[in-house]
Formats: sequence, C-alpha cells, structure tokens
Amino acid sequence: MLDGKKMLFSGMQATGTLTLGNYLGALKNWLTMSEEYECFYSVVDLHSITVRQDPAELRKRARNLLTLYIAAGLDPVKNCIYYQSHVSGHAELAWILNCFTYVGELNRMTQFKDKAAKHADNINAGLYTYPVLMAADILLFQADVVPVGIDQMQHLEITRDIAERFNNIYGDVFTIPEAYLGKTGAKIMSLQEPTKKMSKSDENPNASILLMDDTDTIIRKFKRAVTDSDNTILYKDEKPGIKNLIDIYSSVTGKTPAEVEKEFDGKGYGDFKLAVGETVADMLKPVQDKFNELSKDKEYIDGIIKANAEKASYVANKTLRKVKKKVGFPEMIR
Ligand code: TYM
Repeated sequence: MLDGKKMLFSGMQATGTLTLGNYLGALKNWLTMSEEYECFYSVVDLHSITVRQDPAELRKRARNLLTLYIAAGLDPVKNCIYYQSHVSGHAELAWILNCFTYVGELNRMTQFKDKAAKHADNINAGLYTYPVLMAADILLFQADVVPVGIDQMQHLEITRDIAERFNNIYGDVFTIPEAYLGKTGAKIMSLQEPTKKMSKSDENPNASILLMDDTDTIIRKFKRAVTDSDNTILYKDEKPGIKNLIDIYSSVTGKTPAEVEKEFDGKGYGDFKLAVGETVADMLKPVQDKFNELSKDKEYIDGIIKANAEKASYVANKTLRKVKKKVGFPEMIR
C-alpha cells in the first residue's frame, strides 16, 4: 500500500520495437489502472542484456520505450515510469531471491527453453535466472497486481512460489501478487503463423504489427494475414487466423467476439481484414504522433527520468532494508 492504494508493477523489455501484442496484451490495460492502483512501470533494461545488445542501440530503444509509455497515455505524474537499471534494488533483491529459488523450478521455464534454443551460442546464466529478476521486480514493489499477457503467467507463478517460500521462513515480508489478464488481447498471435504468438523478435516482418508502423503498412500486413479458405468470419479454434483477427478487433473496439461475428455476417475476408487494419491504424496514429512530439522534448523526458528514478528507489529501498534485516545482514552504521 502507498497513499492508501494497492500496488501495481509491470514492465517491458527494450528489445526490438513494440508490437501490437505488447500494446493490446499489456500497455492498453495499464492505461485504465492508475486511478485504482499506485502504479510502477519499468523499462526493464537489466532483463534485455540476457540477449546480446548493441550498447548505443539499447540506450536508444530504452528511451524510446519510456517515451512510448507516456505517448500511449500513461500520465508520468500518476504512474512511476522508470528505468530498471536506475534502481539498484532490483539486482540486489534478485541475488537474494536466487538463493531461495531451486534449479529444478528454473528448469521448467518454457521461455528459457525457447530463448536458449534461439540463442544457442549464448545460453548465459542471466537468461537462466531471468525469472528470479522478474520476481525481484514485482516483490520489490510489494505489487498486489501485475498486468501482463498470457506468456508471462509461468513467471508470475514462480514469483508467487518464491514469495511464499520466503514468507514461510521469515514471516510476512512480501505481498503475494496476482496476475491481471485483459478479457481480450492477452495472447495476440502472429499474422503469418497464427498458432504462434506475435513477437518482437520474429524475423518475418509481415508477422507482427509494430507500434510505429504507418497506416499503409498496417493495412498491407493485415491484408496479407494468413487465414483459411472458407471465407466465414467465425470465432473458432479451428480458424486460428480469423480468431486472432477477431481478438484484435474485439480488443481495439471493445466489442465481444459474438458482436464482431454479427457485424461481419455475410461479408468476406477482404472486407474484414481492411476493417481490422483501419481500426488498428486509427488507434495507433495518435500514439505515434504523440511519440514524435515527446521525442523532441529532451528536457521534459529527462525530468521524468530523474524524478521517477528517485521515487522508485525510495519505495524499493523500503522493501530491501526489510529483506536484508530478515535474512541477517548486519545493519549499516551511518
Ligand atoms: P515482454 O517485453 O516480452 O512483453 C511486454 C508485455 O507484453 C505482453 N505480450 C503480449 N501480450 C499479448 N500478446 C502477445 N503476442 C504478447 N507479446 C508480449 C507480455 O505478456 C508482457 O506483459 N519478462 C517480461 C518483462 C518483465 C516484467 C517484469 C513484466 C520483466 N519484469 C515484472 C511484469 C512484471 C517480458 O519479457 O515482457
């Protein structure tokens, strides 16, 4: 609790450019939560170096991501938007929690297995203990709720397990967090292989809508989206391409899948794909314009970075001091 509000933590990696999946699965939900929760949104740059990064590129992407959070509509006064690397408590708590996490648990993480297969030349220890750093992020802020897409659920489960284990030994130190999934959009699939999730790292440029894609590109990618051949707009597992497009359209318009089916009853895939493309482009255009405007205002963004790093550090240090005391580290003498 802070100022009588429950705590919320979430974050995104500054790796690659954000996709429509990141937007609909996470960011869009974040926009609705700041009245109810005390919100902390991190650009999780510590996580990003589990995969090799070009330093200048990482710095640029991290700043772009932070700017995009604001451009999407997160008020940086009501929401604490900050770089993970500016708050040393993340790394410190991650170390401590490493000592309360079993290798057997980490071996079960499907994201590690996927990433290890993708980066076979660099299966580093950071990639392996990535979920522990994520647990540290969440527990450091005593988060009650963590809005994420479905792909992060396993990491949320291990976070809860680690927190419960720690609390069983030392008393009530950590809040046990709950995941928050949106009703729609929690798993947006690739436009080219609709049984696979849409991902920043997909090599096929037609598979993902990027948040900074222009209107023509968005419409073209939706036109090329892989579907089936029966030309009926129905929300069914046997029709993963169309189901995904309905999910996207539902998530953007707020209509239920049944309402979307009705709206496009008797219409063909061409009409439907165009409608989805236009709706998505219309949603993203103001975000892109705001991003371009904010990017020019260096002083404003710098001010947010500084103020929020201090606020996040203050909250993080409170938890960290408690944890250090509980595990038996000697107190600092000032
Ligand atoms: P990341 O950067 O891969 O993704 C950021 C958010 O976007 C969601 N997401 C999706 N949602 C729906 N459909 C998709 N295709 C899709 N792709 C991504 C993700 O679920 C996520 O919510 N490990 C995290 C970042 C992280 C974090 C945290 C999140 C680090 N510490 C603490 C929450 C709390 C990650 O790599 O997300």
